Amino acid sequence: MDEEDSGQDYIFKIVLIGDSAVGKSNLLARFVRNEFHPNSMSTIGVEFQTQTINVNGKEVKAQVWDTAGQERFRAVTSAYYRGAVGALVVYDVSRRHTFDRIGRWLEELQTHSDMHVVTVLVGNKSDLRDAREVSTDEGRALAEAHGMFFVETSALDSSNVKPAFETLVREIY
Ligand code: GTP
Ligand code: MG
Repeated sequence: MDEEDSGQDYIFKIVLIGDSAVGKSNLLARFVRNEFHPNSMSTIGVEFQTQTINVNGKEVKAQVWDTAGQERFRAVTSAYYRGAVGALVVYDVSRRHTFDRIGRWLEELQTHSDMHVVTVLVGNKSDLRDAREVSTDEGRALAEAHGMFFVETSALDSSNVKPAFETLVREIY
């Protein structure tokens, strides 16, 4: 295939949402560049990165959008969600507050998305075993209640990061 064929690739817009500091930007950095930033700053505005995933022998481009969890740093909400077909809704397993806010994030997603959005609930920072405040069972139960997929990840030690994105893309596809 030459480059001109790349126009036939599938491109899926995926949005990352969840409270500040749950690790959205680090999940993206781990997925796209295999990097981790121990002291990363809050995201300001919006950015996206594209990563190619192979699904059943087809190249699929995941265009993953990332914005701030904090209201005052966020991108224009409607533009952020426009055209999204997948969402990773992220909380931090070591901070229950971020888990309790998942319902609000799902409401916002429903309000602003213009298509059916495949959603994966992501409990990040599974490496923080001693600081855990939300059990795996609780996460799974919430995901089931809302018809979401569920995965626990660690952007720090890489566990399940690729599967989280791949599950999403495979289901969209
Ligand atoms: P906003 O941009 O403010 O919405 O935050 P964010 O959700 O993008 O969080 P970010 O990726 O910036 O990570 C916040 C902090 O958590 C940083 O200090 C990261 O190093 C740390 N962090 C992210 N993922 C993990 C993880 O899997 N394990 C641990 N232990 N720390 C993590
Ligand atoms: Mg960020």
